[in-house]
Amino acid sequence: MKIAIIGGGNMGGSIARGLTKGSLVQVENISVSAATEATLDKLRAFDNRIKVSIDNTIVVEGADIVIFAVKPWLLDEVVKEVKPVLKTEEQIYVSVLAGVSFDHLSEILGQDSVLFRVIPNTAIALGESMTVVASHNASSEQESLVLSIFDEMGKSLLVAERLMTACTALGSCGTAFALRYIRAAMEAGIEMGLYPHQAQEIVAQTVKGAAELLLQNRSHPEVEIDKVTTPGGITIKGLNEMEHAGFTSAVIRGLKACK
Ligand SMILES: NC(=O)c1ccc[n+]([C@@H]2O[C@H](COP(=O)([O-])OP(=O)(O)OC[C@H]3O[C@@H](n4cnc5c(N)ncnc54)[C@H](OP(=O)(O)O)[C@@H]3O)[C@@H](O)[C@H]2O)c1
Repeated sequence: MKIAIIGGGNMGGSIARGLTKGSLVQVENISVSAATEATLDKLRAFDNRIKVSIDNTIVVEGADIVIFAVKPWLLDEVVKEVKPVLKTEEQIYVSVLAGVSFDHLSEILGQDSVLFRVIPNTAIALGESMTVVASHNASSEQESLVLSIFDEMGKSLLVAERLMTACTALGSCGTAFALRYIRAAMEAGIEMGLYPHQAQEIVAQTVKGAAELLLQNRSHPEVEIDKVTTPGGITIKGLNEMEHAGFTSAVIRGLKACK
């Protein structure tokens, strides 16, 4: 299987790097384009078996899957450029572009094209992405194939396109929200006498452990919270103080603003 990535920047480059660590695609079968040699040099330095080119038409040649990872406003121009060499009846097209609908993708790539919209997050670089996937005109085998590719770089979940905005808020913007909680907790730790590096290590590992409790136990957050909140104890005092300051409401409002 050959995969072409148009746009080897943060997201496209991370996907290319992630693919090299998986077993589904041979490194020699990954090709990536970018606008500048500087970006391609970084990929060459990472693994010189990845095929790289400034020329998008060379990169998509013979590809089974073409991943579009340019900025949204460049998509139409890039598709126009590669359209003459695309084999729309045989290829699968994957867009990681936030906010670009299947309606628009069908318009530029063809109404019968097999399309996927994919929203990974930046932890894809470490193989720890939460990747949300929606499909259009795809068979269940094609859906399984795309999910298995992104499962090699974290976890993936197939959803209806109408949920992509919500999934982007939770899964993609969510990285920033989780990190802002970590920063806030660090500031409290520093006020209480910890050095920043100590506070960061404690909070980051605690958040990672809390997430693992949910992922491994498959439990509801409140079940795990109950285990920490001794009646009359200090944790419930802290939680209630956060709620008085509007913690849950602030999180809900922040996520709903991401559209
Ligand atoms: N970053 C995220 O967390 C995230 C999450 C989900 C989805 N996305 C989506 O991913 C897409 C890319 O975002 P990004 O953060 O990866 O941006 P980025 O780092 O700027 O990457 C875009 C890449 O496109 C390349 N490029 C520009 N013009 C091109 C052209 N004509 N042909 C081929 N390649 C071209 C750029 O090359 P040069 O490097 O040489 O300039 C760059 O490598 C966006 O549409 C965004 O919505 C991003």
